[in-house]
Amino acid sequence: MSDDVNRQLVLRARPSGIVTDDCFELVERPVAAPVDGQVLVRSLWLSFEPAQRGWLNDVRTYVPPVAIGEVMRSWGVGQVIASAHPDFRPGQFVHGTLQWQTHALIDLSVETNPPTELAAIPPEVHDPMLMLSIAGVTGMTAYFGMRYIGQPVEGDTVVVTAAAGATGSVAGQVARNLGAARVIGTAGAKAKQDWVRQVAGFDDCVDHYDDKVRRRLRELAPDGYDVAFDNVGGSLLDAVLFNIASRGRIVLCGSISTGYRPERPEVGLHYYQLLTTRSARMEGFVLYDFEARFAEARRTLLDWYDAGTVHVEHDILADLPNAPQGLRRLFDGGNLGKQILHVADPV
Ligand SMILES: NC(=O)c1ccc[n+]([C@@H]2O[C@H](COP(=O)([O-])OP(=O)(O)OC[C@H]3O[C@@H](n4cnc5c(N)ncnc54)[C@H](OP(=O)(O)O)[C@@H]3O)[C@@H](O)[C@H]2O)c1
Repeated sequence: MSDDVNRQLVLRARPSGIVTDDCFELVERPVAAPVDGQVLVRSLWLSFEPAQRGWLNDVRTYVPPVAIGEVMRSWGVGQVIASAHPDFRPGQFVHGTLQWQTHALIDLSVETNPPTELAAIPPEVHDPMLMLSIAGVTGMTAYFGMRYIGQPVEGDTVVVTAAAGATGSVAGQVARNLGAARVIGTAGAKAKQDWVRQVAGFDDCVDHYDDKVRRRLRELAPDGYDVAFDNVGGSLLDAVLFNIASRGRIVLCGSISTGYRPERPEVGLHYYQLLTTRSARMEGFVLYDFEARFAEARRTLLDWYDAGTVHVEHDILADLPNAPQGLRRLFDGGNLGKQILHVADPV
């Protein structure tokens, strides 16, 4: 790949439903040399997060939306090509807000909203790509949500929705490492359900498209689930609520069934009153609630990963123009494990 030309995907039109390729335009611009505190980074791998779909709505949430004409916002792992910043040197592996582009000229002295981020890959992260999965947003989200909100204890029965995805697959394995006796997942395609059982080591996996999912979950845990880690929301969350055990804890990690579109979800919860009669609770969180504990999460997850008690799957697409497809795959279930886009090889 040439380091003279920066290929970027610029937002041209907001999607109304699923993200389509024509929402973005591929543009080429010359790569500029860094000056006064800037760092030039070559993108190696870009990460896909469901939240990116929300940033495309013309709605201000915890961050402003991506503006029309702006390069699509994204985290990534890259390698420094040139640096005019004392903390970075050529060849170094870094992670940060690289965006959907082949080259990022990063200036940490300029205030942006959301903030521009760039940091060296911590030394304990032996494979830089892990910074986008087990040692990054999805791994840590799974860890904090399960450990500190779900709080599984020895012998618990746990259910995780979107269990073949990046966050869900780790969440179930975290529960197992913390002593859960039974871990059940939900997933779409049969091949994904098999992977959840055979590779991620869950005890069973239910097809969330099955219209008897509520009953299937009941058959697998007649006394109910002590912990439920929900990535999906909507009718699947309702099925989980129906099956919550006495004093159960439901972790609200995400609600991908809404498509993260701007309109209000169609489905209401029918079984929320069971939270009262079963003295159960439901609690949401965002990863950054736990920022002070990132080092602990990373160390613990990497220990489990190295010991083979947490398996991580990377689902790697190639080439920058395929980035919209990568984001789409999170919503149509095309991904298995962490969806990543390969942009260039390390040198
Ligand atoms: N709270 C936080 O701080 C935080 C941070 C990061 C991520 N999250 C949330 O974590 C969840 C998982 O994110 P991820 O990055 O790990 O994505 P992921 O699970 O790797 O991919 C999303 C998966 O969701 C499933 N899905 C999509 N639409 C669905 C629907 N209508 N009904 C049921 N399942 C559906 C698909 O799997 P199937 O093939 O099985 O349908 C898809 O593979 C998301 O809700 C995300 O917003 C929260």
